[in-house]
Amino acid sequence: MPTCILAIESSCDDTSCAVCVDGKILANEVATQHIHEQYGGVVPELASRSHLKNIVPVVDIALKKAQVELKDISAVAFTRGPGLMGSLLVGGMFAKSLAQSLDVPLIDVHHIQAHILAHFIDEPKPQFPFLCLTVSGGHTQLVVVKDYLEMEIIGQTIDDAVGEAFDKTAKMLGLPYPGGPLIDKYAQSGDVLKFPFSEPKIPELNFSFSGFKTQVLYFLQKQEKLNPNFIQENLADICASIQYNLIKILINKLKTASQQFSINEIAIAGGVAANSELRKQLQSTANQLNWKVYIPDFQYCTDNAGMIAITAYYKFLKKQFCAINIPIQPRLNF
Ligand code: KG4
Ligand code: ZN
Repeated sequence: MPTCILAIESSCDDTSCAVCVDGKILANEVATQHIHEQYGGVVPELASRSHLKNIVPVVDIALKKAQVELKDISAVAFTRGPGLMGSLLVGGMFAKSLAQSLDVPLIDVHHIQAHILAHFIDEPKPQFPFLCLTVSGGHTQLVVVKDYLEMEIIGQTIDDAVGEAFDKTAKMLGLPYPGGPLIDKYAQSGDVLKFPFSEPKIPELNFSFSGFKTQVLYFLQKQEKLNPNFIQENLADICASIQYNLIKILINKLKTASQQFSINEIAIAGGVAANSELRKQLQSTANQLNWKVYIPDFQYCTDNAGMIAITAYYKFLKKQFCAINIPIQPRLNF
């Protein structure tokens, strides 16, 4: 009998369902919530309500795409945390109800571990141990991945996540949420060296982005006093300079970690892994330092249930199931 896992991801503002059969993702449906754009950030209560509206149709479409029926499902997986309380509750309660009604095991998944294991959906797959830079709207972490379910955090942000730094500096430029992809877009025609921003000096393998954000804010305030149209007239160069410097911070820490742990298998994960400058700087560093780099397919970088399904598949093989009454956990460590 094939192992068929139905997985739900609902930690933030994307409602997603994936179907995975024997480690292959047959469907990965995502309903993105556009309602938050007008507010400049995710509004938790609106996110929960949209999940409620979206979850049944998204599951239905995923099952049809995968050509799988409910009776074929071997286990149901869901994101336990970290994430927004209300959003996690919707996905968690749906998964629990479905598992109970089908009388199949339930598997809880850690959202950040899942971002990392997204590397095992497609070829080429990294070799253990590898180093993973996980960069999303909520996390910036350097992780040594020793095995599918054995990971060690060796560095992380002490304040904002890098995705947040992208989104908040974008907001200062008058761009809507989420600003990361827009900074990337406008940066394409800009000069990365036009406006120099300094790199924060943070010890060891940790990161900090709040000082960088303040630096951009003061810079913009000063320039706008001199020229009220400064942002409109220099948007591409400002975006390129912000992006180049944010990515340089990430690459420099990756270099230190790779040297310190003598690991040349380097992976990136999370929403910011979609960033073109990160991909560019990573590739050129890889050429210089003989790294083998792994970047997941775009659909598996941002929040998606495919990554939850693949993680659940490895947990299923080890029979790591959870109790039906397991609570969701908005602040979950690993
Ligand atoms: O992993 P993700 O979808 O959700 C979280 O778990 O946070 O990451 C979302 C983050 C947002 O901050 C978004 O602005 C950023 O990823 N992002 C990007 C790009 N695409 C998404 N940041 C920079 N450049 C991009 N191309
Ligand atoms: Zn995420």
